[in-house]
Amino acid sequence: MTASLFAVSDLHVSYAENRQIVEGLRPESDEDWLVLAGDVGEMFGDIEAILRQLRRRFHTVIWAPGNHELWTHASDPVQLRGVARYEALVRMCRDNGVLTPEDAYPVWRGTGGPVTVAALFQLYDYTFRAPGMTKKESLKRAYDVGVVCTDEKLLHPDPYPDRESWCRARLSQTERRLAAVDPTLPTVLVSHWPLVRAPTEVMWYPEFAQWCGTVATADWHLRFRAAVAVYGHLHIPRTTYYDGVRFEEVSLGYPREWRRRGDTPRPMRRIFGKAR
Ligand SMILES: [Fe+2]
Ligand SMILES: [Fe+2]
Repeated sequence: MTASLFAVSDLHVSYAENRQIVEGLRPESDEDWLVLAGDVGEMFGDIEAILRQLRRRFHTVIWAPGNHELWTHASDPVQLRGVARYEALVRMCRDNGVLTPEDAYPVWRGTGGPVTVAALFQLYDYTFRAPGMTKKESLKRAYDVGVVCTDEKLLHPDPYPDRESWCRARLSQTERRLAAVDPTLPTVLVSHWPLVRAPTEVMWYPEFAQWCGTVATADWHLRFRAAVAVYGHLHIPRTTYYDGVRFEEVSLGYPREWRRRGDTPRPMRRIFGKAR
């Protein structure tokens, strides 16, 4: 029996229709892995319930945080902010046997392997903004046209002064980790935000790009030997190639988005393995 490595993101389980789709996410073999590239949901308890459910089904579950997990929503009983919230999510994952960006990167040895599967948390720093604009001008334009990411209100950077500073710290920690992995193996790099800017160029609202990544990771797929780069956040599921590297946007997205695309989606993408 050949195992598969699957990936999915942006399950957004606050929507009942999406929870129903998550109900249907099943492995094809006992050895299948599932990579979750962020935005499972917003409420701490919901995120835990879904991760636990998926971990019971899949051999290995690897989670990278999205912006929604990092929100401190007024109605969430867990009111931790910023780094403290992230660390609590990591502890919760560990309690449930789910791997995070803070754990040793596992090696996939099935079809397409061996390959190091690295879940990343790098955040964004507003450098995907309109060319020639300062961060301030770019944010003002977003407010003027009414396209402002809710992160501005709910994703707190504590104890950092701002999200860019948190992003900078995450980038240096993550770079150190990636530089230390076995240099003879290729990688699957899994992050909520795309490592390169190009995927954001097809977004309906270009002003939103500033919340979608950082130019600092533009060459990570090459420097860190990516066989595949998995991401989400854009809610534009598709496969593209940059510098010959396969990039997979694996989002489910909001019901209003997936309904436009047709029938009930089957959002799990096979990264490695064969359809059976
Ligand atoms: Fe999302
Ligand atoms: Fe997101």
